[in-house]
Amino acid sequence: MISMLQVKPDPSDRLDAPTAVAKPAAARLIAVASGKGGVGKTWLSITLAQSLAARGSAVLLVDGDLGLANVDIQLGLTPRQDLSAVLSGRRRLDEVIVRHAPADTPAMAFDILPGRSGAASLASLELGLLDRLLQTIRGLDGYDVVLLDLGAGIDPATRFMAACADTLLVVSTDEPTALADAYAVLKLQARDRLARSTGPGTIPPSSSASDVRLVINQSSSLASGRRTYDVLARACVTFLGGAPPLAGIIRRDGRVSDAIRRQTTLLARHPNAPAAEDVGRIADGLAAGR
Ligand SMILES: Nc1ncnc2c1ncn2[C@@H]1O[C@H](COP(=O)(O)OP(=O)(O)OP(=O)(O)O)[C@@H](O)[C@H]1O
Ligand SMILES: [Mg+2]
Repeated sequence: MISMLQVKPDPSDRLDAPTAVAKPAAARLIAVASGKGGVGKTWLSITLAQSLAARGSAVLLVDGDLGLANVDIQLGLTPRQDLSAVLSGRRRLDEVIVRHAPADTPAMAFDILPGRSGAASLASLELGLLDRLLQTIRGLDGYDVVLLDLGAGIDPATRFMAACADTLLVVSTDEPTALADAYAVLKLQARDRLARSTGPGTIPPSSSASDVRLVINQSSSLASGRRTYDVLARACVTFLGGAPPLAGIIRRDGRVSDAIRRQTTLLARHPNAPAAEDVGRIADGLAAGR
């Protein structure tokens, strides 16, 4: 696995990247990962994209759930093209990116690079191609932040993309299975990110191998979320020699599923909901912690 994480771009890969829009200063790459599925990564990625945009960042949200993309579904979009068109060389990145700027939330507009659901070939992408794709995306002109919504689990592509992020948010709920799976992700990332930061030069200089933070989602209260974090942090200190800091706790909130069912965003429909406030605090921490 370590040798896979150190893979160099291969000139024979078919990524038709638009060199005209590349720039040397790369956007900050923030990835959202989890071990267990369904903990709220996609919803959090969308809500964070809006929160960071509202705080003045130019944001690109990338659907990095390569086999089962659904950023577009949560937002009720039907993009004409997606990542698969870029990877097959039929489209450039800037031809596939769509803007999410509904009239009710103009100050929270952000761009989306849609993925494709059910494309098995995407899920089994060669890691060298994935590396080039991420580097090209980070180099796109005009973005401060690239948010990467990952699929659940520890398959090689997901693990690789998580290890590439400047900041990795690992999401868990308080369920024992989610916590155990979050711990597995943290353990593997400790290894992968160290290998990548000390490997032969594919990680950008601004990246920190240790910038991994935990999000506890769907918590019954802030106090209960704090206790959940403490349980996971203790296991990390005991077995991994240190614990990631808490990025934030998000309360369980029926308005989240209400917004998703209506294919709109929480910040558009219920801007004053407790969960919206909680994501706002995470965005503040991310914006402050560059
Ligand atoms: N804070 C919250 N309060 C209430 N419900 C929530 C909250 N966060 C997420 N959910 C619920 O969890 C469901 C799953 O969310 P989401 O699709 O974002 O998870 P995911 O981690 O991206 O899943 P997958 O691993 O399948 O990609 C949502 O449909 C929503 O109803
Ligand atoms: Mg998801």
